[in-house]
Amino acid sequence: MRKKIVAGNWKMNKTLQEGIALASELKEILAAETPKCDVIIGTPFIHLATLAELTKDSVIAVSAENCADKASGAYTGEVSAAMVKSTGAEYVILGHSERREYYHETPEILKEKVDLALENGLKVIFCIGESLAQREQGEQEAVCKAELAGSVFHLTPEQWKNIVIAYEPIWAIGTGKTATAEQAEEIHAYIRKCVAEVYGEQAAEDTSILYGGSCKASNAPELFAKPDIDGGLIGGASLKAPDFKGIIDAWK
Ligand code: PGA
Repeated sequence: MRKKIVAGNWKMNKTLQEGIALASELKEILAAETPKCDVIIGTPFIHLATLAELTKDSVIAVSAENCADKASGAYTGEVSAAMVKSTGAEYVILGHSERREYYHETPEILKEKVDLALENGLKVIFCIGESLAQREQGEQEAVCKAELAGSVFHLTPEQWKNIVIAYEPIWAIGTGKTATAEQAEEIHAYIRKCVAEVYGEQAAEDTSILYGGSCKASNAPELFAKPDIDGGLIGGASLKAPDFKGIIDAWK
């Protein structure tokens, strides 16, 4: 049975002190009522060690939002997968459209990052999704398939067990424009089919595929009710504990 997951992506928000306050608040809320899904918070590197320690005895797992495409050495300012792992973080988000667009991360670079993350015992939340222009051209399926083929479909079946996919249409990220539940389900089912072609039906059944892009408490129940949507990757609405909890509650 695949996992249901609600994962936050704080992006470049929250100082260390603000992050501690948010994670503490969330931990307290979730301790009072055990969630019906896995809960992950994706945070900037500087928060990881502190929040991994703070959430150790809770249901919350911690994720980085990136890692280097090199193992170690003279790469000033970079943070390796081994370093991320050493903080106590369990996951790393890779392939986010903001990294692809603003930091020019290509499928080849992402492939290196995915390999290093898995080698170092991290689980990967791998993001894919089309732009508005690509959607208007009807290219969403081709784009998603190519992004998977370019960076994760080389993995062994054993490695694949540590991959979570996040479908995030770029036109829905931070725009307030959510894909309709039908639009999202259609492509999630397609992504699962692509996984089945490479890893077989059972592995595809066991793969968690999250939706991301203006997901909030008001639209999460409809999205999560779809058979191929296994939860969400949440940006803006993960920055306030009650908003994030509202999305987690969609699994009730
Ligand atoms: P959003 O971001 O929820 O603010 O649209 C989602 C994401 O980019 O992961």
